[in-house]
Amino acid sequence: MACVKLGIVLVLFAFTAAAEEDLPCAERDVGIEGRSIVCVCNATYCDTITREEPAPGTFVAYTSNNAGLRFAKSYGYVQTINATVADEEEEYPEPEQKDYEEDERLLDINLEDIPAILETIRSNVTLRMFLATRHQFIEGFGGSVTDSASMNWRKLSDRTQRNFINTYFGAKGIEYNLIRVPIGGSDFSTHPYTYNELPWNDGALTNYSLTEEDLFFKLPMIKMSQQAATDEIKITASTWSPPVWMKTNEKITGFAQLKPEFYQSYADYHMRFLEEYEKAEVKIWAITTTNEPINGIVPFVDFNSLGWWPWQLGRWVANNLGPTIRNSRFNKTLILAVDDQRYILPIWLKGMEREDPRSIEYIDGIAVHYYGNFVPGKILTRIQEMYPGKILLSTEACEGPMPWDLLKVAIGSWRRARRYTTSIIEDLNNFVVGWMDWNLCLDPGGGPNWVHNYVDAPILVYADKDEFIKQPMYYAMGHFSKFIPRGSRRVQVARRSLGTLENVAVLTPKGNVVIVLQNRRRHEVNTTIRISSRKYIELTMEPESIKTVEINHN
Ligand SMILES: *[C@@H]1O[C@H](CO)[C@@H](O)[C@H](O)[C@H]1NC(C)=O
Ligand SMILES: *[C@@H]1O[C@H](CO)[C@@H](O)[C@H](O)[C@H]1NC(C)=O
Ligand SMILES: *[C@@H]1O[C@H](CO)[C@@H](O)[C@H](O)[C@H]1NC(C)=O
Ligand SMILES: *[C@@H]1O[C@H](CO)[C@@H](O)[C@H](O)[C@H]1NC(C)=O
Ligand SMILES: *[C@@H]1O[C@H](CO)[C@@H](O)[C@H](O)[C@H]1NC(C)=O
Ligand SMILES: *[C@@H]1O[C@H](CO)[C@@H](O)[C@H](O)[C@H]1NC(C)=O
Repeated sequence: MACVKLGIVLVLFAFTAAAEEDLPCAERDVGIEGRSIVCVCNATYCDTITREEPAPGTFVAYTSNNAGLRFAKSYGYVQTINATVADEEEEYPEPEQKDYEEDERLLDINLEDIPAILETIRSNVTLRMFLATRHQFIEGFGGSVTDSASMNWRKLSDRTQRNFINTYFGAKGIEYNLIRVPIGGSDFSTHPYTYNELPWNDGALTNYSLTEEDLFFKLPMIKMSQQAATDEIKITASTWSPPVWMKTNEKITGFAQLKPEFYQSYADYHMRFLEEYEKAEVKIWAITTTNEPINGIVPFVDFNSLGWWPWQLGRWVANNLGPTIRNSRFNKTLILAVDDQRYILPIWLKGMEREDPRSIEYIDGIAVHYYGNFVPGKILTRIQEMYPGKILLSTEACEGPMPWDLLKVAIGSWRRARRYTTSIIEDLNNFVVGWMDWNLCLDPGGGPNWVHNYVDAPILVYADKDEFIKQPMYYAMGHFSKFIPRGSRRVQVARRSLGTLENVAVLTPKGNVVIVLQNRRRHEVNTTIRISSRKYIELTMEPESIKTVEINHN
């Protein structure tokens, strides 16, 4: 880069003394080859992380890596480029020209030099931010209060429960501000159930009542989270299966759609939930149009589901759910459509629209899940362009759910943290406004789950020892949730080198720049991040690391 070529001496001021108030990770080596560490919390101890406000002209960086760093703090100065050079860059802003020059040089090299040259290219990355090119506003990050998560949590002592809530929601935790809650049961319940199971064919829902799971587990966990949180927690609610008498197969799972005579009852089923949770003083911000409608269509899913073909979903939203919500006092509740994998979104949305365009008018956004991401993230940008007024929200993600995932829980896995990070960066760069993990915690076997569909979670609870462990995935989530406050706005980043790093950048409401970077490689990468034509910072990305940098460029 021109600035480096002119030989300006850069003083990189960096040190890693943790701020005094932060408690470090109580590390535990999981004793499995190739795994990273986990951090242990109990009634009297849990590591903390405080966000430090960078002074003007400085930045604060937080690093986690496979080698065992967890939110390690470092500090540096924003550098200023010599004015002459800055002007030159303004005159020749074409990135293509620079890439071409590099290519010319590559033509002249010997074959045996290629690995070394590739290494040089990859270990030296320059990124350029364009703060005036602004995209979506961010709503936040969070996880799900399932029956299983809340039951695991309730097994801990009061003090350990409090440490758990603070580490997810508190000022010294990762400050989650989104929660998803199932309406009734999901597979992460100890038994299948719905509300108003009896009387049979009770379309008027005369016997709708919350269950023990709500009253003793989910609601207390949500309320304690709200008390600990530093911001309003926005709650999204989804139904997995309605009462089975509403379904064509009259079973909790399997191939089934809604019986047409109960279309309005199923809309009312959602209204009743909003009312019951309101009585319990929990406000619901958004509902989705049923969890994973494809599960009630494909034959191999064996947990709570309801199938929706696109035209059926369009008809129900346009004629029942939309008018019911909008004509009620819950008229501000967002309606998020589809709530399934990204590859079905275009077909379902187009199908809904074709059946009844009002279905699209009624929805505020589109909910998308993490699984089966063999379709590139660009599909989300395309959806955003097709439906520009609608938000995109990632409502569910976990590792280990696929039949070919031999390990349901892979304790201490850095790879799983890396995959979360890659996915969050990709989703945010494709217009997603918020990202929710699945179960906030599970037991060490990845349950309970009434159909044995065990999966991994960022926190595992060891009830017998009254402790819980925080896996690398917890820190991956925190690299976003802690440092990207609600109301931040994504800005454009372009690479100015052949090598690159996964990255996403936002401008916070206070006007700082936050960039999250991931180095997936086993080699260190030196990075120059240009914030404007004149200002830049320099960083070293450790091998297999995630780094969040908050920059006060004023
Ligand atoms: C990194 O890139 C700069 C500018 O292109 C170059 O001067 C420097 O030698 C490179 N460093 C390495 C280690 O390749
Ligand atoms: C809780 O964790 C701390 C820090 O690791 C440890 O010193 C303490 O002994 C633990 N307490 C119990 C009861 O295990
Ligand atoms: C900027 O660069 C020019 C040309 O290399 C040099 O003459 C000038 O002294 C530099 N200015 C500063 C403030 O470093
Ligand atoms: C990164 O920069 C540091 C300090 O300038 C240097 O010692 C190190 O060799 C560089 N690493 C790579 C991979 O270029
Ligand atoms: C109402 O539901 C409960 C279970 O929640 C059930 O025991 C009871 O029999 C139902 N009442 C009627 C009238 O069906
Ligand atoms: C939404 O509901 C509130 C509370 O009942 C009411 O005051 C308001 O007029 C409603 N808004 C619309 C657009 O219907």
